[in-house]
Amino acid sequence: MDRAGRITHQLLGVVRKTDLVPSELNLNALIDDTVQLVSREASNKDIEIVMEMDSAVASVWVDAYQLRQVLINLLTNAIHATPKQGNIAVILEDMGNQFALKIKDNGEGIPKENMEKIFEPFFSTKSPGEGTGLGLFVTRGIVEKLGGKIEMESRLGHGTVFSVILPKYHEVKRDLEEGNHLGLFQKIKKSLQGH
Ligand SMILES: Nc1ncnc2c1ncn2[C@@H]1O[C@H](COP(=O)(O)OP(=O)(O)OP(=O)(O)O)[C@@H](O)[C@H]1O
Ligand SMILES: [Mg+2]
Repeated sequence: MDRAGRITHQLLGVVRKTDLVPSELNLNALIDDTVQLVSREASNKDIEIVMEMDSAVASVWVDAYQLRQVLINLLTNAIHATPKQGNIAVILEDMGNQFALKIKDNGEGIPKENMEKIFEPFFSTKSPGEGTGLGLFVTRGIVEKLGGKIEMESRLGHGTVFSVILPKYHEVKRDLEEGNHLGLFQKIKKSLQGH
């Protein structure tokens, strides 16, 4: 994809809250599928992507398309930052009403002076042909619309971890805010049936 194409593609990911389509989904399957999507790019660099899934997170309510976009952006960045034969881990952790998705690489790390800037639009250390600098800006926008937050920890020369923390039942929260008790009841019933 050329630069203009990539910018358009990234910006298509900028959504309004009302555009979100949460559904019940199995995170294991979604993470598996998404890792498949980037597996060619990873294997070109002989990078292994390992998954560490917490089975306590059975199913969640979230917009699958948006969550996939978040994962693709973070995985692509991790692949770019990781040297040949490096490792990337996708870690799913249970946090009660929330879950954490962590993308951990043992790549180049982020210099302190860039840490404040990485989420800004058009900040990129890649050459113009390689990066638009919109990936993390869009990613953070999506995560916040999904009711969550994104955090980063990095050590120069050692690697980086991006943690996405999201509510398990985004739609349920919205129903509560809107006073939609019938919808809430149906979702709680459905999620209980899954356990
Ligand atoms: N896992 C990582 N390790 C090291 N640096 C990273 C990592 N992820 C992001 N960065 C830094 O943050 C910058 C911004 O990332 P962002 O995804 O927003 O843009 P990009 O990857 O440069 O371009 P694109 O718009 O194509 O994603 C990157 O250029 C890089 O310097
Ligand atoms: Mg990127």
